[in-house]
Amino acid sequence: MPYAHITGWGMQVPEPVLTNDDLAKMVETNDEWIRSRTGIRERHIAREDEFPSTLGLEAATKALQMANLAPTDLDLIICTSSSPEYIFPATASLIQDQLGASKAGAFDLSAACSGFVYALNMAAQSIRSGSIKSALVVGAETLSRFVNWKDRNTCILFGDGAGAFVLQASDKPGGILSAVLHSDGSGADLLSLPAGGSRNPATETTLHEGKHFVHMDGKEVFRFATRVMGHATIESLELAGLTTKDIQWIVPHQANYRIIETAAKYLKLPMDKFIVNVERYGNTSTASIPIAMVEAVEQGKIKSGDRIVMVAFGAGLAWGAMTVEWSGPIPAKKPVSQKRYRLLARLRSFLLRAIRFIEGVLSRREL
Ligand code: COA
Repeated sequence: MPYAHITGWGMQVPEPVLTNDDLAKMVETNDEWIRSRTGIRERHIAREDEFPSTLGLEAATKALQMANLAPTDLDLIICTSSSPEYIFPATASLIQDQLGASKAGAFDLSAACSGFVYALNMAAQSIRSGSIKSALVVGAETLSRFVNWKDRNTCILFGDGAGAFVLQASDKPGGILSAVLHSDGSGADLLSLPAGGSRNPATETTLHEGKHFVHMDGKEVFRFATRVMGHATIESLELAGLTTKDIQWIVPHQANYRIIETAAKYLKLPMDKFIVNVERYGNTSTASIPIAMVEAVEQGKIKSGDRIVMVAFGAGLAWGAMTVEWSGPIPAKKPVSQKRYRLLARLRSFLLRAIRFIEGVLSRREL
């Protein structure tokens, strides 16, 4: 049975930064309150022309560059997002087109902030089963569009960004070692975006009532998160036949520093075992784990052979953990120019649209 290795990684955040002091000019809050309750100092906010697909595309291109893999060699693209571009089509399909990943299937996976762990596991299982050889997993968010900037309970928490991993099959043991996924839909109302779906389609009333924004019971979500994080970490480690002594790092979902601290206490681990960057990005939902991982690799913290647990929680309620042995890129035979593939992708997309248009005209004539 082939192993699923993480061979490429990339991240992209929008340039504009919103600090706590900036927020204090928008709602009644202050830097001290936000930092002491959440650990967040600032977050990146997408410009008008930035979307999950554009941020995701950049992160994906970097991940492919790192893996030295042509987009045309991808078998599968999974995008996970709490702020997808549309209900449909899938953001994954938009990324597939812009990458020119001509042979890849593409779909979106919805598991809120746990989406990246869920999506990685789906991609890894497809590789382990032998049905595909390579996959791209993208977590991409512009959650700032769904945040009520007048609600101090929620607007201080979230930020925008994207992260992507390339997974490839190899006979060498390692890569994704285990995963546990959980859900408790009885807590669905604790964190939600109530309108815009088929239960509450957009109407003047839903807009007026602010139901197109994130709604959250912060205290209950806090309690849930601290309860499940440590437990899921242990479960995933046990499945892999490991204990906390065997791992170098834990990469938690970056929602709140205090939640991570509580998990550290539960696991009886020092905070320096945890990769934490919530202070600079806030909660980027599905993108938070890959962004934290990419930064930790770039800073030389995570190295080939390290064993790591990624643990996530969020709306659903859904949560999960995954144990991996960090592989690093497979040695390259011939460098792949992602720039060239980007240009070819544009041309390909244009030609496909043109062909579809011409075929449409011709078939109408035939009728
Ligand atoms: N600035 C200043 N005061 C604020 C505030 C802000 N941004 N937000 C809330 N407050 C006020 C509240 O109105 C409340 O005032 P009151 O006592 O007069 O009613 C007081 O601060 C305490 O609010 P409370 O909700 O009890 O704060 P808290 O300690 O629970 O912290 C969160 C609030 C949101 C930071 C915290 O509950 C949390 O992080 N929860 C988890 C959220 C999360 O991670 N969600 C995503 C999961 S994927």
